[in-house]
Amino acid sequence: MRSTVFLVALSCCGIALASCNKTTSPAGDTIPIGEYASLTGNTATFGQSVHSGAVLAIDEINTSGGVIGKKINLITEDDQSKTEDAAAAVHKLIDRDQVIALLGEVASGRSKAGGPIAQSAHVPMISPASTNEDVTKIGDYIFRICFVDSYQGQSMARFALNSLGKKRAALLEDMKQDYSVGLAKSFRETFAKSGGQIVSEQSYASGDKDFHAQLTSIRSFNPDVIFVPGYYNEVGLIVRQARELGLTCPILGGDGWDSPELTKGNESAFNDTYFSNHFATEDPDPVVQEFVKKYKAKNDGKTPDAMAALGYDAARILADAITRAGTTEHQKLRDAIAATKDFPGVTGMITIDKDRNAQKPLTILRIVDGKFHFAQRIGANGEALTPFNPNGKNSMAPASTAPTSAAPATPAPASTPAGK
Ligand code: PHE
Repeated sequence: MRSTVFLVALSCCGIALASCNKTTSPAGDTIPIGEYASLTGNTATFGQSVHSGAVLAIDEINTSGGVIGKKINLITEDDQSKTEDAAAAVHKLIDRDQVIALLGEVASGRSKAGGPIAQSAHVPMISPASTNEDVTKIGDYIFRICFVDSYQGQSMARFALNSLGKKRAALLEDMKQDYSVGLAKSFRETFAKSGGQIVSEQSYASGDKDFHAQLTSIRSFNPDVIFVPGYYNEVGLIVRQARELGLTCPILGGDGWDSPELTKGNESAFNDTYFSNHFATEDPDPVVQEFVKKYKAKNDGKTPDAMAALGYDAARILADAITRAGTTEHQKLRDAIAATKDFPGVTGMITIDKDRNAQKPLTILRIVDGKFHFAQRIGANGEALTPFNPNGKNSMAPASTAPTSAAPATPAPASTPAGK
């Protein structure tokens, strides 16, 4: 665990400018917001991206005068991608820094470690990106601004069946991650219920490097699609090893794939793979394009991933709630976050529901030569909002024009099968 001083220094060196500017302000003049994120370790790109997104938002807010007459001071703790460190980080931010609210974590397992500490201190927490169902069940101070895994898993199962025309799926899940286990569960249930068959189930643990045994077993069952709901480090190795073993079928995953590191050095292995995500940089929606432009300008031309967009939205939603509450008092701020309605986020229109989750459309991306392209958009009730675009290249409608929750709860209609 690193000290705040170090973290502020780290922020100043590369990823953040907002934090270092503001930590020098006299106490009481600023609003301290805590962030716990994996700036280093196994899923470092998650923490770095979410942090850069939050910093962009907070810099903009502070430049235009801050909230309720004060500037926001973002205090960031690196949990090094470790569950134990996530809990310690939240303790520090609440006890030592007296933050009035928390942003974090990206990974569900780490949000589940930090959440109970925030809940018992009655410090509102907004997870930008944790999709596991149980995260917001921790209590009434815990929110998320992303969709949940039951929806993500169902959507990918229907995509495999209806858009790709596949019937025999194999599953390879990370038993160490609540996220992966939850996502596998919803995929399994929907796929089997909707006419598909799960022909093989295998597992691994975060940090593993060799997946030949599991993949060889999967190969013996001759699946026509494989679902790998893991995080990018392991998925990069799994997809490469699967292709080396002659598994040529489409491979599918969830938002944990989204990292600039995912395909590095393995670009061709990732052809014919798809994953569900919160955001597509190709989206012509002016809200998205404006964000992409601003993010690139501030981050050396780097293209934002979904975590960056979610970090940006989470920080803005928190600032909006502070403004509406007119105070940073815990209970009133909690109530204001809970009342968030139709907030125009980069990742879609955000309304917090009674379970403190957000219902939003989901985007399925297709990877072509290492690049992520729009393939299909799915509505909040599982309906296909656009036909499947099998070619990878985009012809998408802006996210803001897509209905989010008005459509009936019917399965996604079959669209053009890829014919593979
Ligand atoms: N949804 C993942 C989880 O809950 C985290 C994640 C979000 C990863 C967005 C990538 C993009 O663990």
